[in-house]
Amino acid sequence: MAALKSPTVAVVVPRLVARLCPAAFSRTSLAFPLVPAHFSGLRPSCDRPAHPSVPASKSGFSTMSPSRVKAVLTADVGLTKPSEGIVPQIAITATESHVTEWKGDVVVIGVFEGGFGKDVNGIFEDSALKKLDDALGGIFGEIVVEEDFTGKAGQTSSARVSGHGFKRVGFVGLGKPKSASSKTWKSLGESIATIAKPAQAKSVAVLIANPPELSSEAKVSAASTVSLGTILGLFEDTRFKAEGKKPLLEKLEIVGLGSGAAFDAKLDQTVKVTGGVILARQLVNAPPNVLLPSVLADEAENLTADYSDVLTVKILDEEACRKLKMGSYLGVSAASTNPPKFIHIQYKPPTGDVKTKLAIVGKGLTFDSGGYNLKTGPGCSIEIMKIDMGGAAAAIGAAKAIAEVKPLGVEVNFIVAACENMIGGGGMRPGDILTASNGKTIEVNNTDAEGRLTLADALVYACNLKVDKIVDLATLTGACIIALGNDIGGMFTPNDALAEELSSASQSAGEKLWRMPMEDSYWEMMKSSIADMVNTGGRPGGSITAALFLKQFVNEDVAWAHLDIAGPVWSNEKKSATGFAVATLLNWVVKQAQS
Ligand code: BES
Ligand code: MN
Ligand code: ZN
Repeated sequence: MAALKSPTVAVVVPRLVARLCPAAFSRTSLAFPLVPAHFSGLRPSCDRPAHPSVPASKSGFSTMSPSRVKAVLTADVGLTKPSEGIVPQIAITATESHVTEWKGDVVVIGVFEGGFGKDVNGIFEDSALKKLDDALGGIFGEIVVEEDFTGKAGQTSSARVSGHGFKRVGFVGLGKPKSASSKTWKSLGESIATIAKPAQAKSVAVLIANPPELSSEAKVSAASTVSLGTILGLFEDTRFKAEGKKPLLEKLEIVGLGSGAAFDAKLDQTVKVTGGVILARQLVNAPPNVLLPSVLADEAENLTADYSDVLTVKILDEEACRKLKMGSYLGVSAASTNPPKFIHIQYKPPTGDVKTKLAIVGKGLTFDSGGYNLKTGPGCSIEIMKIDMGGAAAAIGAAKAIAEVKPLGVEVNFIVAACENMIGGGGMRPGDILTASNGKTIEVNNTDAEGRLTLADALVYACNLKVDKIVDLATLTGACIIALGNDIGGMFTPNDALAEELSSASQSAGEKLWRMPMEDSYWEMMKSSIADMVNTGGRPGGSITAALFLKQFVNEDVAWAHLDIAGPVWSNEKKSATGFAVATLLNWVVKQAQS
């Protein structure tokens, strides 16, 4: 059999290129601009005004009020200028060649549990495993015996080999075939990255030694999810280090799952998803002295410029938000010298009618100090509160992926009420009463429950767009992390059909959501003697009362779901952002387009 038969798809993930700084970066943009060519907040030394909407006077000084002048200066805290982001560029192919004939650096073999015998002479009961071991000259058997490799999920081993077209072979345990899910395939991809990195591999082939019976659709989806895991596993955010590291892997070949048009199309879409996930990660990772609300707004504008065929954007400044009576949102941003920016990106399909109108609303606190209810003490996590715009990052990352995929029949509105929650003489006090844009009044009994205050006005704005469905995403409560841990997002919705849609979208994305109850009786805790409601109801069921609060700002005729993603947006192990929910949102929107 000919080795390396018909590569079926060659998808290239380009590097982040600073288009607005041509002198600094002469590298050219490649086929798919996965991450904005000019990811500005994260743009290197070519300076742009911190607030492009504020013109400088002829004398060179800002003509704005002193607080605005200060805002321009605070953009420079620490003098940090990020460097160009380096994104893995990997050509992915799905082929049906025999792996032992493959030529390259590393072969990674995924192995499901089962089919292993005990003694050295008859290690493999499974004929596929036996055949593979023979082809590899017995090295697999040695690893099984010497390292007690059983194929348990997460087990990995790799060894240098000679006498083959490749230099190293790695084995990755995939667990019980019965429990195979997208998570299994994503983890396999991540393990490929873990093996490829230290081996400095430029090319990797992956195959499944003993695959369970899979439908052709499941095979395509497995190939896609393995690729997703590999690209995301290889991505390292080095923009804020003095020296960047370029990932070496250039070629990933998925062997034996199948090949053809369905694989090509799906792998192409996978690369588009990874672009959105990486953008979301970069936004969340960016420190709060760099990623100010105005910089998040710049990013939205840059993204829209990159996809002007399908995206438009509107940025509302403080004045415009005041006119819309967004007292709840503006209350949160009052203490900040960096002004709030209300971001509205709209996706419209390139052709055809819009049948369904959607809104994706993301919490966009570029930093959450807690306000006067300052986050203090061990475990308060104030030092990672740059992640408090993880919902916004998911929305903007999804906007990028959707703009690439261009689903027909749907309009999608991405809405972010971006601001900081700080402390200052003009800031919101505990005890203040805020009036939201739907006229409802809120007694602020805790300034640290600020996300819901910003979302309140964002949700009212979304409803005014007369959308059919709204999904909001927010790093809303520590209580949700206590309930579900770091890997699972909480889903709150009164709408069973929408719950089903989001569950299925998240399952195929390999991201976990768990539906939580919207317990109406808990609203008792949210009653105020002087206003329509308070903003916090105490510790019991903290993520539920937060969801009930949001419900007050959504029209009943709109299908609405709230995703509390406080846990999964950030990986404590990797000390880095995950890009959680981008893949789920893309799947959801694409499904809406089809139905
Ligand atoms: N941004 C936090 C929630 C959070 C905590 C996200 C940890 C990620 C990690 C949110 O604004 C907050 O402070 N919530 C409070 C609510 C409380 C005052 C009712 C919380 O969870 O403690
Ligand atoms: Mn808070
Ligand atoms: Zn917050």
